[in-house]
Amino acid sequence: MSAVLTTEAAVASNPLASPAIAAVLLGTGVVGGAFLKLLNTPAAASIRLVGAANSRRQQTQAEHLADRALREKLKSHGDVRNDAALLAALDAHDAAVKVVIDATACGTLASRHSEWLARGYHVVTANKSLAGGDLPGWRTLQAALASGGRYGDSATVGAGLPVISTLRRLRHCGDALLTLEGVFSGSLSYLFNQYDGSQPFSALLRRARELGYTEPDPRCDLSGEDVARKLLILARCAGFALRPDEVEVESLVPESLRGVDVETFLARLEELDEPLAARFAEAKARGGSLRFLARLNQRGRARVGLVEVPANHPATRLYGTDNQFALSTTRYNTQPLVIQGPGAGPEVTAQALLGDVLALA
Ligand SMILES: NC(=O)c1ccc[n+]([C@@H]2O[C@H](COP(=O)([O-])OP(=O)(O)OC[C@H]3O[C@@H](n4cnc5c(N)ncnc54)[C@H](OP(=O)(O)O)[C@@H]3O)[C@@H](O)[C@H]2O)c1
Repeated sequence: MSAVLTTEAAVASNPLASPAIAAVLLGTGVVGGAFLKLLNTPAAASIRLVGAANSRRQQTQAEHLADRALREKLKSHGDVRNDAALLAALDAHDAAVKVVIDATACGTLASRHSEWLARGYHVVTANKSLAGGDLPGWRTLQAALASGGRYGDSATVGAGLPVISTLRRLRHCGDALLTLEGVFSGSLSYLFNQYDGSQPFSALLRRARELGYTEPDPRCDLSGEDVARKLLILARCAGFALRPDEVEVESLVPESLRGVDVETFLARLEELDEPLAARFAEAKARGGSLRFLARLNQRGRARVGLVEVPANHPATRLYGTDNQFALSTTRYNTQPLVIQGPGAGPEVTAQALLGDVLALA
């Protein structure tokens, strides 16, 4: 038997031992809720939750944080939101590692990540707003990272599929990205994997929404903006410090439906059908299919939009809501390195957060 007891085993064998990692969780929605469930598993024994918050309320008291109904209770009970009180709870803990976990989509919170890193906290995030946002914000993040804090961002692209880590590893080894291409959105993957002209696109979209594959307002997916943010994150990891306006984005939302409220949009979904049916018919006549692809080439040209692909294209071999990332590099130049699999969903995304948190210790 090993004479060295790991921190995790020490905490599991002695619940009074101080855990190695103190954590504050921001966001208790779909992903944050799944993360709270993972915190109750043995794998997370080295993590002590010292604060949790939704957009309106927060909790820092140990007995409430340990309550399995914390997520539900935060909806009606708890202190008023105040970042300073959450950070004070981290400061008060004697854990060696202190981390803020951002499971929101809130731009204001993301804009504080750099400040938290500079103050000595680590940050683990599913929130893409900073790393996939404007260039000055991203540069501030890089500068803050120089102070020694770590930024866990595996959940921001591909829900933890090993694409960001692979890009960083290749770059670290002196390899250079030549092209990156793929399907970065689970909802758009599903829609175009299924769309075969036998039913209107609007019917398929309604079904995808019912299954929870799209955002409540499907324009968030169809606009391509979320895919563009992911492409920016990957491009920047590969050494292309692109501005958002350098990514050409094709939105699938017609102009006439961009300014209307969600209910009106959902009532007029059929307006999407004709243009997409025409593009599908043209592609099919040439033996091709439609896929919503993100693309980056070695000159840093970045585009997100609908593409007609030939029958032997890797993106035609996707299932369900799978994501796909095909990387050609100076060393992977005969065949691309392809990373593919479930790239969305609360459990795998929460697991990506957990993996990043555990890696801090
Ligand atoms: N769902 C997925 O499969 C998936 C996959 C990969 C990445 N992501 C990313 O993960 C993040 C969370 O997604 P989700 O699906 O969990 O969203 P969600 O269900 O809408 O939950 C968002 C949570 O953030 C909270 N929130 C908003 N502003 C806040 C603030 N200022 N302080 C504290 N909490 C705040 C919300 O509070 P209220 O409850 O009070 O509104 C809610 O609890 C997003 O950035 C998303 O892009 C999601």
